[in-house]
Parts: sequence; structure tokens; C-alpha cells
Amino acid sequence: MFEPTLTFAQALDNQDPLKHMRAQFSIPKQANGEPEYYFTGNSLGLQPQRARENVIQMLDAWQSYGVKGHFEGDYPWLPYHEFLTKHSAELVGGLEEEVVMMNSLTANLHLMMVSFYQPNQHKRKILIEDHAFPSDHYAVCSQLKHHGFNESDLILWQPREDELLHIEDFEALLETNHQDITLILLPGVQYYTGQVLDIEKLTKIAHSYGITIGFDLAHAAGNIELSLHDWQVDFACWCSYKYLNSGAGSVAGCFIHQKHCQNPAINRFAGWWGHDKQSRFKMENKFIPIPTAEGWQLSNPPILSLAAIRGSLETFAMAGGLRPLREKSIKLTQYAVDLLTHELSNDMKIITPMDPQQRGCQLSLMVTKTGLDGKALFNALEKNGVTLDWREPNVMRFAPVPLYNSFCDVYHFVQILKRCLEN
Ligand SMILES: Cc1ncc(COP(=O)(O)O)c(C=O)c1O
Repeated sequence: MFEPTLTFAQALDNQDPLKHMRAQFSIPKQANGEPEYYFTGNSLGLQPQRARENVIQMLDAWQSYGVKGHFEGDYPWLPYHEFLTKHSAELVGGLEEEVVMMNSLTANLHLMMVSFYQPNQHKRKILIEDHAFPSDHYAVCSQLKHHGFNESDLILWQPREDELLHIEDFEALLETNHQDITLILLPGVQYYTGQVLDIEKLTKIAHSYGITIGFDLAHAAGNIELSLHDWQVDFACWCSYKYLNSGAGSVAGCFIHQKHCQNPAINRFAGWWGHDKQSRFKMENKFIPIPTAEGWQLSNPPILSLAAIRGSLETFAMAGGLRPLREKSIKLTQYAVDLLTHELSNDMKIITPMDPQQRGCQLSLMVTKTGLDGKALFNALEKNGVTLDWREPNVMRFAPVPLYNSFCDVYHFVQILKRCLEN
């Protein structure tokens, strides 16, 4: 039974089978030397020690081997991305042949649209959500323009007054417009509200009309359990710097369903790293795509970034993978909901769904206290050692991450928030 006391939070921490994982991370310090209350894993995850070690290992390999590092050492660079495939595939529920770490998120979304947005004059519309992350919105609009169309070919799925996306509205949109729509791009977890979308159901509905569907999993990868292969998702892209703790701007992930990987005729932008490995260095000019997601690679990848990702994936493996992490995450976020509701329900509204299956770790807090400037509150929290993030117009995103946040972190955050609101 929930209790709003520090003793209760301490007891939850003592019972937490993953409490040892926090020591694997560097927690930024406040001016007084105490660790920050860091809840911004939804934006930039903290540094795993293994990431640091692996990056140093690669700097040492470069120092020792020079160009021979492509072939020598424990982790040669030529196949380095392959060292990430198994764990990455496990995290998103893909087959190993369906997953590759390459480029950045928006770049991969474009590459996927090159392959999967194949419009004609009659069937050319793209459906996205109205509140899509701006980069996704820009990418989609620029793809329309690239094909000679414009924003009138964009269909927007609107959230309702509760800020959430309702699947009945998606069904209604498709019923009316399916003859015009050729591609759907949606988030796995909506970045502003933290709402988890039902990827399996959305995919089924899209496919029942013969429409291709892809997902931006920036806020889903490393946060919730995914089964992209079984759900028949056509493609998905995600970044590695949020819940995957691989450092700012680190290399992104891409999933392409097996049924598409094995289709060499599929349109794509090509580069030598996507070419058949046996003949890559023959330097001939006939492109033969690798018949896996690797066939979409363009360039030889930044090894220092991949090294950080390898360290992060090893850290997930140390925790036993996503299943136990998600179990803790559900408890930790529910504890936060209970405490916030108990202490502050008059001053804050949680716009994230209350059903744990419809959210990941993030809660989006809307300040409702009359006369209070939400941004000033956010700044006051920062002064008191709490790191959250702010999203216009008036939402603070708070993401207790099961790998390194504790129940006591959440307890202290709510007490600081309460004090800031009182003052
Ligand atoms: C949902 C979502 N999509 C796309 C992006 C853009 O990512 P990138 O700059 O890695 O392309 C972000 C960045 O935070 C995001 O949150």
C-alpha cells in the first residue's frame, strides 16, 4: 500500500532488484556536490561507464593500430556495427537481419521514405499526427515537395481535448481517406504527452487498407517492450541518445521488415557500406545491396559513437534486458503518479495516460496553479538540483528511468516541487 513517506521510498529502493545498476552510470553533480535529481533520460540519457570504457578502448586502438584498426584488435572497425546488432534487435523485437545502427534519426526517416514513399498521382498522401515532432513533420513535408506535391497531401491525426490520440479517430480518418493515403508515419511514444501508441493495432489497420506504416521510436526504444517483427511493422527509426544512453548525437537505429530487406528491387539511396560485403573492395560500379537492413547503410560509420552504443547495450544486457527494466519502470512511474497525485493534484495535471500500458516512464506535467508561470517553476526546480525538460507551451517532461533513477529520487523531486510551488 502506497505511503507518501521517505521510509516508504527507501523500502521500495531496498526491494529493487535493479538498484545496483545506478552505479554503472555517472550522475551529474549539483553545486553542493550532491548528485542531481536527473529525470531527462527522455532527452539525453546519462553516461554508462561501459560507454566511456569502450570509447577509450577505440581511441587506444586508433593510437596503436592506425589504419590497421579496421582489421585488428578485439573489435575491428570494419565489422564494428555488427557487434551492436544482436542487442539492438532484442531491444526492438526485430530479427538480426532487420536491424542496423547507422546515420541519425531524421536522416534515416528520409532514407526510409525514399524506399517506402512511392506515390503516384492518385495515391500520394501521407498521414502523420498533428503534433508530430517538428523534425518528422519537416521531413515528411520535404518528401512531399521532392515528389512535386505539397502540404495539402498531408493528413493530420488530431489529438482530442485531453491532448491524447484516440485510435477511433485514426480508424475514421482511414475509412474516409484510405484511397489517397500511401504512407503512415507515427510515433511509438508521443514525445509531448508520453502516450504509448498501440503499434500492433495501428499496423494491422494500416495493412488492412494496403497502406505502408513506419514508426519513429525515439521515445520508445529502450523505454517500452517492442515486437516490431511480429507486429509486421514496415520500418522504424530511433535515436540512441535518449533511453539508449549513447551520448549526444550518437548514431541512430533502423528497422526494416524482413519482407522488404529481401527485395533487391526496392528503391533506395545507395552507398558503398550497403553494398555486398564480399565485393565491396573490388571497387566495381554495380551496386549489389546486402539483403538485410545493412543494405541501407551509406557510409562507414563513426566508430567512437558505435563504441558508446556498444557500452550502453552491454549495460542493458547487464540489467537482464528490457523486461525487468520495464517491470521496474512501471512501478517507478506509478509511484511518481501516486506521490504527485497525493501531494500536488490541485496544482498540476498529468496529461500522460493513467493506464501504465499506455505510457512508458515519462510523465508530462502541466502546471494548472492559477497565476503561476510554468517556466519560472521549471527554472526554480533547476536551481534546486532537479533536471527535467520543458516543452512549449506549458509542459514539464519528467522521466524516471529504471536503469539509474531510484524511488528516493522521485520522493525528493516531489518534495522540492512542492516547496517551489508553495514559494
Ligand atoms: C520524436 C523525435 N523525432 C525526431 C527527433 C530528431 O532527432 P535527430 O536530431 O536525431 O534527427 C527527435 C529529437 O529529439 C525526437 O524526439
